[in-house]
Amino acid sequence: MMSVRPILVVAGVGNAAGTGAATARVFSKAGYRVALLARNADSLNNLASQLTKAGGEAHPFALSSYAPQAIRDAFASIRKQWPKEQGNEIRAALWNTAAAVWKPFLEVTDEEVKESLDVNVAAAFAFSREAILEFKNNDLNDLGKRGTLIFTGATASTRGNVTTSAFAVGKFGLRALSQSLAKEFGKENIHVNQAIIDGPILTDRQRARHDATWEADENVRLDPESIAKSYLYLANQDRSALTWELDLRPAHEKW
Ligand SMILES: NC(=O)c1ccc[n+]([C@@H]2O[C@H](COP(=O)([O-])OP(=O)(O)OC[C@H]3O[C@@H](n4cnc5c(N)ncnc54)[C@H](OP(=O)(O)O)[C@@H]3O)[C@@H](O)[C@H]2O)c1
Repeated sequence: MMSVRPILVVAGVGNAAGTGAATARVFSKAGYRVALLARNADSLNNLASQLTKAGGEAHPFALSSYAPQAIRDAFASIRKQWPKEQGNEIRAALWNTAAAVWKPFLEVTDEEVKESLDVNVAAAFAFSREAILEFKNNDLNDLGKRGTLIFTGATASTRGNVTTSAFAVGKFGLRALSQSLAKEFGKENIHVNQAIIDGPILTDRQRARHDATWEADENVRLDPESIAKSYLYLANQDRSALTWELDLRPAHEKW
């Protein structure tokens, strides 16, 4: 069969300036086709054309929401776009989406609790299920793996704090999911990872909260591209020494 590029599916691209987009760029440069899933169709289209102009191959799959059915529909569209019968294989998947509810406990509404659980946990279940079903159908690659599933975590994946009751419950849940999947599917040579991002990422939202000194100092914030390079490293790991949990922080982070 003709050799074709492996596919990376990224969920959560935001305004195309953060970790989701950086991962799309880094994997695209490394020879992956990229399926981009997120809610903002304009930013997906722009990122897909940027990647294509740079010599890659990317396609936007806009989501109406992170409801499980919307995620299943997006995977069905990916299969239509790049049919398995033509040798196309989803080999990597990144769940980067998060609903970040940051509020003191007594101000958290029922809707926000539901949003955190729906987006951070239920949607991640649906995404993982689709990715794992794809991986199970792949033969082993050169590294002896069928696929790599990565979750973007946060400090709140292991530590609750004064304004993170709703968010941390979602991120703890995501971590529990990733650990369970790593154990359940490890024997099938499906590599499941979780990355705790323990510090602020250089996104537009964080730029608005900090001054120019912060942005210029790479010791105090994480660069999305640096995180993306670590994700590529995970996908390229040998089967005899696999990470489950990666813990990333800038050099001068207090922890
Ligand atoms: N930024 C930080 O300082 C920081 C620090 C530690 C960990 N993280 C983690 O990093 C990941 C995000 O990466 P990023 O910060 O670099 O930004 P990014 O790649 O631009 O991604 C932003 C994500 O947030 C999603 N999002 C925001 N509000 C949402 C909501 N209410 N419901 C559903 N989705 C929502 C966006 O969804 P759409 O793409 O559909 O718009 C997108 O997936 C998250 O898992 C987050 O917990 C971020």
